[in-house]
Amino acid sequence: MIKTQSNPNFVKIIEVGPRDGLQSQSQIISSEDKITYIDLLSDSGLQEIEVTSFVSPKWIPQLADAQMVSKSIQKNPRITYTALVPNIIGLENAVNSNYKSVAIFTSVSETFSKKNINCTIRDSIQKFHTMKPFWESNHLRVRGYISTVWHCPYEGSINIESVMNLIAKLLDLGIKEISLGDTIGKANPSEVCRLLDQILIKWDSSFFALHMHDTFGLAENNIKVAMEYGINTFDSSAGGIGGCPYAEGSSGNISTEKVFTLCDSMGIKTGIQKDKLDEATQFIQTILKKESFTHAQD
Ligand code: HMG
Ligand code: MG
Repeated sequence: MIKTQSNPNFVKIIEVGPRDGLQSQSQIISSEDKITYIDLLSDSGLQEIEVTSFVSPKWIPQLADAQMVSKSIQKNPRITYTALVPNIIGLENAVNSNYKSVAIFTSVSETFSKKNINCTIRDSIQKFHTMKPFWESNHLRVRGYISTVWHCPYEGSINIESVMNLIAKLLDLGIKEISLGDTIGKANPSEVCRLLDQILIKWDSSFFALHMHDTFGLAENNIKVAMEYGINTFDSSAGGIGGCPYAEGSSGNISTEKVFTLCDSMGIKTGIQKDKLDEATQFIQTILKKESFTHAQD
C-alpha cells in the first residue's frame, strides 16, 4: 500500500500561467502586460513561476518575446523563475537570460511528440543528453515534463509501462523533478491511482509533480488523491487559462485558485496570499477579454 492516507503539511504550487496559460492565446499579448502579470504573480507568495518558453517563435509566436520579458520582470530572490526549453538553442537562450531553473519536455505518445516538438520520443531523449553537459556546467535546476501520461489526443489511452520507461530515462539524466502531464485533462482519480500505485513502488513521491489540465473538471479530485500518495507539488495557472496548441481539445490548467482553495480547506499551507493572486488573475483576464473583444471587432 503506497497511499500514505495523510496529506502533506505544505503544497508547492508552480504557477505556469505566463507560459502554459499564454502560449495558445491567438492574440499577441504585449510584453508590457506580460511583465505586469508576472510581477503581480511574484507578489502573491508563489514559490515558483514558469515565466516563458524559449521555443521556436515560428511554433509559438506568443512567446517570441521571452528574452525581453525575462529581463524586465522584477525578480524576487525567494522565488524560482523557470523557463521551458526544447533543445540546446532554447537552453542557451535561457541561460543568457539568467535563468537558473529550466524545464525540458517530452511525451509518452509518439504522435504528440512529433506534433509538439517535431521529433520522436527517442530523439527528444537524445537531445536532452546533448543538453546535459551545458545544464550541468551552468549548475541549473532541471525539471522534466512528460506529456500525455494518461491520454493522448491522437493515440488514446497510454499504457503505464511506457510511462515507467520514460520516467526511468529522465531520472537517468539526473532530473530530480518530473511533472506528469494530463495534457488533455481526461485522467480520472482511478487512473491516477493506478499509475501512482506502480511508479511509487520504484521511486519516491518526491520525484514527482502533477500537471493537470482541467478540461473535464477532474483535476481537483486527481490532485486530492495524489496528495494521499505523498505528492506535494502541483502545476496550475492563475484563472485556469491556457492549453497546448498541439493537443487538440486541451483547455487550461487547473486554476491556481482551485488548488489554493482545496489546500486551504484541508489546512495545507501554500504560502499564497489569495487577494494578491486574485489581483494577478483579474489583470490577465481583463487583458485577455480586451484582446478577444478587439479581435472580434476586426
Ligand atoms: P524544428 O522546426 O524541427 O527545429 O522545431 P529545427 O531544429 O529544425 O530548427 C528550425 C529553425 O528553428 C531554425 O531556424 C532554428 O534555429 C530555430 P532557421 O535556421 O530556420 O532560421 N530554432 C529555434 N529558435 C528559437 N528557439 C529555439 C529554437 N530551436 C530551433 N529553441 C522545435 C523543433 C522543438 C524548435 C519546435 O518544434 C518547437 O519550438 N516546439 C515547441 C512547441 C511548444 O512550445 N509547445 C508547447 C509547450 S509543451 C506543452 O504545453 C505541454 C506541457 O505543458 C505539459 C502538458 O501539458 O502535458 C509542458
Ligand atoms: Mg500543459
